[in-house]
Amino acid sequence: MKRVERAHNVADLRLLARSRLPRPIFDYIDGGADDEVSLRRNVTAFKDYELVPDVLNDVSDVRTETTIFGQPSRWPLMLSPTGLTRMFHGHAELAVARAAARHGLLYSLSTMGTTRLEDLAQAFARPKVFQIYIFKDRGLTAEFVARCREAGFHGLALTVDTPVAGNRERDRVSGLSLPPKLTLRSMFSFALHPSWSIPALTGSKFDLANVSHKVDALAAGPMSLFDYIGGQFDRSVSWRDVEWLAREWNGPLAIKGVMTPEDAHRSIASGATGVMISNHGGRQLDGAPAPIDQIAAVRDTVGDAPDVICDGGIRRGSDVVKALALGATACSIGRPYLYGLAAAGETGVDHLLTLMRQEFERTLMLAGINDIAALSRRHVRHRPRGSALHR
Ligand SMILES: Cc1cc2nc3c(=O)[nH]c(=O)nc-3n(C[C@H](O)[C@H](O)[C@H](O)COP(=O)(O)O)c2cc1C
Repeated sequence: MKRVERAHNVADLRLLARSRLPRPIFDYIDGGADDEVSLRRNVTAFKDYELVPDVLNDVSDVRTETTIFGQPSRWPLMLSPTGLTRMFHGHAELAVARAAARHGLLYSLSTMGTTRLEDLAQAFARPKVFQIYIFKDRGLTAEFVARCREAGFHGLALTVDTPVAGNRERDRVSGLSLPPKLTLRSMFSFALHPSWSIPALTGSKFDLANVSHKVDALAAGPMSLFDYIGGQFDRSVSWRDVEWLAREWNGPLAIKGVMTPEDAHRSIASGATGVMISNHGGRQLDGAPAPIDQIAAVRDTVGDAPDVICDGGIRRGSDVVKALALGATACSIGRPYLYGLAAAGETGVDHLLTLMRQEFERTLMLAGINDIAALSRRHVRHRPRGSALHR
């Protein structure tokens, strides 16, 4: 049995990832902003909900298929956009997308990805979403819209929780540089992980594949790609820009980073077809609420039609059941699949998705649910804070 197959859950895969990656790289995945309160709370908040089961319901056949971004999904899970994926494994986004395709799930590619969106689209026939930003250069955003349409992407997720970069102190302590370089500080950790370091430092060029042409085009003296893209984040973005993007794209569009019912309502009124309730996995505004706690109010405000996707803190299949019972269309995961990827490439992501799917189905059966459409709020109960066992 391979080492990765002995991982029984996300926590085991996380430990495997930690052993395989140099510490600065692991911390880049694992860490959050400031005191990491939201990072922890995203996960522990799920434990404050009890699942209230039905019994004797004939669960010999469980229906889990759903639609997200207007596209079919085998069960209500999707893979969130994560930047810089080549840093975690040489096969990068393609390995993740292939595993997602095998499991019948939607994959989302980050603007900050290390694979060109056209290359991903060619390799991956399944439904896919592109994560977009509204940049200072609106022309660059419009260019992405056109490229996504041309390449056959099915949806866009507009990330709105990054007017400035979050304060990730683990990255400061570890001295992580982007792209990763051998600094004196990180040398020790890189040297201890040659199976990661040698291919990473000698292999194919590490860059932000979707925007690198911009810097070539600018022929911009000393301006590096990372400086260029860092300078593109626009603090003045507002709802008017969402209306503009919705018109430009004219297709399934989710606003990623919405936390309140009011902003969810505004998103739909501005032309979006859904929201991703998200605090960026606790990497931006520390102290923001856990996504799971916001689902019910958001659903009650936007009504039945829009996609309401719970993004952040999902570590068990049972977490997905809780989110659906509260009113989510689906859940989305970031770190869990990155741990799988870092642990064992495509096999690791595959293993993670198998584990989570098994947990999801088992939980449904134990809760007496034979069709996800039958899940409702009476299947979950919120326990007073602090009464759950927090791991
Ligand atoms: C290493 C890493 C990189 C990320 N990069 C992006 C990104 O480029 N764009 C984006 O919208 N979100 C990004 N995210 C946030 C994820 O899309 C998602 O919101 C978050 O990981 C969900 O929380 P979880 O990790 O607890 O599942 C990133 C998250 C991680 C862990």
